Amino acid sequence: MGIIKDTFKQKADAAAAEIKDILKEHGNKVIGEVTLSQAYQGMRGITGLVSETSLLDSQEGIRFRGYTIPELQQKLPKAPGGTEPLPEGLFYLMLIGDLPTKDDVEHVTNVWQRRSHVPNHVFEAIEALPVNTHPMTQFVVAIMALQTESHFAKRYAEGMNKKDYWDAVFDDSMDLIARLPRVAAYIYRRKYKDGEHIQPNGLLDWAGNFAHMLGYEDEEFKELMRLYMTIHADHEGGNVSAHAVHLVGSALADPYLSFAAGMNGLAGPLHGLANQEVVKWIFEMNEDLKTDSPTKDQIAEYVKKTLSEGKVVPGYGHAVLRKTDPRFTAQMEFGKKHMPDDKLVQTVWNVYEVVPPILQSMAKIKNPWPNVDAHSGSLLVHYGMVEYEYYTVLFGVSRVLGVMASLCWSRALGFPIERPKSVTTELVKKWLKGEDNIWGE
Ligand SMILES: CC(C)(COP(=O)(O)OP(=O)(O)OC[C@H]1O[C@@H](n2cnc3c(N)ncnc32)[C@H](O)[C@@H]1OP(=O)(O)O)[C@@H](O)C(=O)NCCC(=O)NCCS
Repeated sequence: MGIIKDTFKQKADAAAAEIKDILKEHGNKVIGEVTLSQAYQGMRGITGLVSETSLLDSQEGIRFRGYTIPELQQKLPKAPGGTEPLPEGLFYLMLIGDLPTKDDVEHVTNVWQRRSHVPNHVFEAIEALPVNTHPMTQFVVAIMALQTESHFAKRYAEGMNKKDYWDAVFDDSMDLIARLPRVAAYIYRRKYKDGEHIQPNGLLDWAGNFAHMLGYEDEEFKELMRLYMTIHADHEGGNVSAHAVHLVGSALADPYLSFAAGMNGLAGPLHGLANQEVVKWIFEMNEDLKTDSPTKDQIAEYVKKTLSEGKVVPGYGHAVLRKTDPRFTAQMEFGKKHMPDDKLVQTVWNVYEVVPPILQSMAKIKNPWPNVDAHSGSLLVHYGMVEYEYYTVLFGVSRVLGVMASLCWSRALGFPIERPKSVTTELVKKWLKGEDNIWGE
């Protein structure tokens, strides 16, 4: 592990010195203004966070350290015989800031293999829950049970120097990433495959081994997992899961506690749970219409029914994006390559033709286009993973890559505890009457 840790430390020290100079010279520059509506409406559009690993453009979508998803598919190392990027490479890119070589990626794979042991009490904690517990709840309980292994918590209790925080967070991050596929696969096999667990294969890459432990040996499914784990890893810093990890981590809660917080947020239907909602919504539509290939007219009617019942169309809309999510497009390309005739996948593509014009006609909806969750489930169903309640766990296993790379940076850059100001409506009313200056303290 020394190589990647040392490289990270060198990069982080250089960046910290640069940021110090930037703030010394420009720290008082104003970067925006905040309206009253923004304070009430989810802080949309307020820039108040720094997250080094990726940047989201509302028109173009996500770039990881400057690279788009198609560029990553081209430039990141692949598994032997494969065409999709290895998520190890994306993690290296997010952490170090440079594209990895094949050797760098192999090194990361080896480090994660070595650190993947999950202690027994974690499985026992999962087993203590009723088997029908939602997979995301089982996942978070397992992450919390893993917290006994935290280097950060142990070293902090022993009186660690604050200069070493990054080092302990780095070790915890690598352990957590290494262990997560085993834990996630255990939950899947426990809940859906009668508890018939599959031992890890130490010769496989991180995502390939995850697919193997889930019980999917098809090479194409392994490729799908590599793509899935890459494209779900990060979406800049303000989304609920990334922001929750950052916020909780800023209190120096260790990486396990911080990641569990993020996963609780990911389990919300407006965030990561939307991927299960999409497949559920299509299955319900098919059942309602008694078909597995609804026509575009039938889909349009069903969309209108969904909206008239005061529900959202899952997989559509976004807080920042204003175009089709490139993560949706990457999955559509995968579908076209590997399963162009699959009925569910074709329905997803028909929904893509039908939904945007309907949502566009509703003035209040800012983005009528599909997000990442609109496609992922249909690809999984194609390979037999029909248990849609589980899908958000897959998202969570991927998301660990981005949020842990970010947490390493936050500690290496010495970011302080996060604490924005809040006000009451009572105070807002006084301010509107000119009785109080709420913005000055
Ligand atoms: C992602 C999402 C939460 C973004 O929320 P947002 O930033 O508040 O989006 P908007 O500003 O466009 O929302 C304005 C209104 O349009 C509604 N809207 C947005 N997307 C919608 C959708 N897909 N279906 C129905 N209504 C939608 C919102 O609920 C809101 O209604 P309200 O004013 O009555 O509360 C929202 O688009 C949504 O709920 N999408 C469906 C769930 C989903 O796919 N989530 C995964 C995101 S990656």
